[in-house]
Amino acid sequence: MDSTGTLFLPPGSSTIAGDVDAVFNLILYVGIFFFVLVVGLAAFFVIKYRRKEAPGLTSGVDHNLKLEILWTVIPSIIVVIFFVVGFRTFLKMNIIPKDAMEIKVTAQRWMWAFDYPEGANSINELVVPVNTPIKVLLSSTDVIHSFFVPDFRIKMDVLPNRYTTTWFEAIRVGEYDLQCAEYCGKGHSEMLAKVKVVEPDEFEAWLEEAAAFDESIPLKEHGEKFFVSKACNTCHTNDGSGSVGPTFKGMFGHEVILSDGSKLKVNENYIRESILDPRAKLVMGYQPVMPTYQGRIKDREIDALVAYIKSLSE
Ligand code: CUA
Repeated sequence: MDSTGTLFLPPGSSTIAGDVDAVFNLILYVGIFFFVLVVGLAAFFVIKYRRKEAPGLTSGVDHNLKLEILWTVIPSIIVVIFFVVGFRTFLKMNIIPKDAMEIKVTAQRWMWAFDYPEGANSINELVVPVNTPIKVLLSSTDVIHSFFVPDFRIKMDVLPNRYTTTWFEAIRVGEYDLQCAEYCGKGHSEMLAKVKVVEPDEFEAWLEEAAAFDESIPLKEHGEKFFVSKACNTCHTNDGSGSVGPTFKGMFGHEVILSDGSKLKVNENYIRESILDPRAKLVMGYQPVMPTYQGRIKDREIDALVAYIKSLSE
């Protein structure tokens, strides 16, 4: 089922979006109807039966059985309808199709990492084929995050020490926002990623490219790409301005003061160590919040980042 978007949400772009919107709209409009009815009648009675100068005796009528049965039975039926419609959609959202492709999603402050079946991985960009059920296996390395794709109408908590799952099937090629919907600290509002839905053959090509490293391009240029694709730019700048972490501009070859008061000249090994074990030698004045890239980055990619950071000091 498709949906065209509402006042509150972008157009639905997954197979379950239409069902979710139907439940939402049903409850919303029934709610609005009864709100207007109840508040309208209350206002009408307040005015019509307001106390006038010479009040008469209080009415002897104390109940009306027919009316009471009516206003008990009708809401009960409505609530049961909500339950049935809601539960059917809930099942659809929770029963993962057997043939779904599984993608491992790892959340950490403050980025999203994706691992694909054939060894490819990406950061802050989830690439999926259109019209294919995708199972996402979620876990966090630190605190609770939440995997939220408004266009797909899915949201699932991402917890440390436990796996959670959800699934979706995108029905339209395009780019969609992926947001973290659970406050997870300073960088929460910047914990954004994109879901890129592409044609299946384009996806296969992307998988191959993601696993390869084009040696014909200078390292520095690769590094500039990784600065964004590995999400370094979430916390570091390349223009000297301040952020969560130290800027990369002018860093290489210069002395920094570490949190224990010692001094260190930034060289290749320090950058490498900081990528793999960010908390080993912290620059003074910064919090130990950077996630480790151990297992998420290849040596060649570190080479490229080192070359890029070096180039920012030239
Ligand atoms: Cu991760 Cu908010």
